[in-house]
Amino acid sequence: MDIDIVVGDPGALETPLLVLPWCQGADREAERPGDGLEALDESLGLALTRAVTGGDFRARRGEGLLLYRRGEAGPDRVLLTGVGERGDLTPERLRECGGRAVRRAGELGLSELSVWLSPDLLGGAADAQVAARAFSEGAVLGQWRFDELRSEPPDDDHRPALESLALALPTANAGDAARSGAELGSVLAAAQNYARELAIRPGNIVNPKYLADEARRLGVELGLKVTILDREMLKKDGMEALLAVAQGSEEEPFFIALERCPDPDARPLVLVGKGVTFDSGGLSLKPSSGMEHMKYDMSGAAAVLGALRAIAQLGLPANVVGLIPAVENMPSGRAVRPGDIIGSRSRKTIEVVNTDAEGRLILADALNYAARYEPEALIDIATLTGSCVVALGAEAIGLLGNDAALIDEIRAAGDRCGERVWQLPLWDEYRELIKSDVADIKNSGGRPAGTISAAMFLREFVGPYPWAHLDIAGTAWAEKAGPYRSVGPTGVGVRLFTEWVRGRVG
Ligand code: BES
Ligand code: MN
Ligand code: ZN
Repeated sequence: MDIDIVVGDPGALETPLLVLPWCQGADREAERPGDGLEALDESLGLALTRAVTGGDFRARRGEGLLLYRRGEAGPDRVLLTGVGERGDLTPERLRECGGRAVRRAGELGLSELSVWLSPDLLGGAADAQVAARAFSEGAVLGQWRFDELRSEPPDDDHRPALESLALALPTANAGDAARSGAELGSVLAAAQNYARELAIRPGNIVNPKYLADEARRLGVELGLKVTILDREMLKKDGMEALLAVAQGSEEEPFFIALERCPDPDARPLVLVGKGVTFDSGGLSLKPSSGMEHMKYDMSGAAAVLGALRAIAQLGLPANVVGLIPAVENMPSGRAVRPGDIIGSRSRKTIEVVNTDAEGRLILADALNYAARYEPEALIDIATLTGSCVVALGAEAIGLLGNDAALIDEIRAAGDRCGERVWQLPLWDEYRELIKSDVADIKNSGGRPAGTISAAMFLREFVGPYPWAHLDIAGTAWAEKAGPYRSVGPTGVGVRLFTEWVRGRVG
């Protein structure tokens, strides 16, 4: 999708669809279109004034009103889209607006649209950079669909892809800010779509080998150093916990490291993503209802790949390493049994009381491996616990960690980019839950505080580094469609990681 910045009278724009994001004010009469919309309103027979002041259109979040225009020059159609109250205008509302706009354009069979970033929007909570970024993100995210495994497009879907988006500004002085915002937004959203694509492809396609090949491909594309450890190398390296999870599957396990280190003298930021390409639960087999969703148990890995892509494309001056333990969790005659006691890279012994708590086992070895980089900060991301879905639902990522400053940075990054996090405690008292009678630690603490006991387990394998854990079990898959997301994988984590890194490099 091409994104252009244009300046001038919106009434003179040659476009099949002009989108007007509209704020709700306290006084309807005061909402009559001004600020450069006079000519457009005039050419619509004052339809804008009538709709807004008459109360037919109240600019509620998500409300839309489509108007058709007659006349030679100027837009063919005008779409008023509500973004809610002026005082509550956030980037998220503009992201939603971008998603709605491209979907409406698609329904109308259009491959182009323009949006008016009015002085009203830009004078409020959003400056030109923020507004252009949010709208572009929403548009690129809203446009995403996954049809590659169908032999024919679905009957109800004949939408053309949006080819061009014009962001129209009142004056030229905000042009550069808008251009950089649009560039940032479209890189981020495209990287997020890439993560969604990896997560939606099923387990018979995206297996550990596939993730390793994809990492290699991405490394060539972006100029990253990629290292892949296969089973023999994993044995030598001592990743016994990872190998224990993999041993029930016919698929070979891999450990993937991607390094982007422009500054050889600086310690890197290390991101670790859970890459379980299918989680059947193993011998502690999951119920069959909903098991098909467990193809997305590699969403953490997808987020790490997507973030590296965005970070590299934006050329951020930061050393970043991505680590992905990639396995499939299956039952078989060779599978790890409940009760088995296994080793780990850290030499700690683990009693596997539940083979469905496999994510923490592979992450334990990956977090231990991360010590070789002496990370400046270490963050893992994983669809780790059903408890997190229960606690926070689809609205917040679970956040736990050992370093208050890092936690604050991540929280702030989440607020800025719209992928919000919520912290849960990691008090020493919770360590009781994962005490084993026969080994150093056990891999499940049962039902109480399930998200916390999982993170307590991970903490045991983290060296003396600032570390945070993101549980995306509830946020990586959307059960309900939203303005810029369809039912399915969300690509969560890509924006959060990239925003966090942007925040650290200034
Ligand atoms: N991949 C699952 C967690 C999950 C559950 C993600 C639902 C998304 C939706 C993880 O491997 C798992 O099975 N966790 C268990 C842990 C338990 C056995 C201690 C869980 O949460 O039930
Ligand atoms: Mn599991
Ligand atoms: Zn899992």
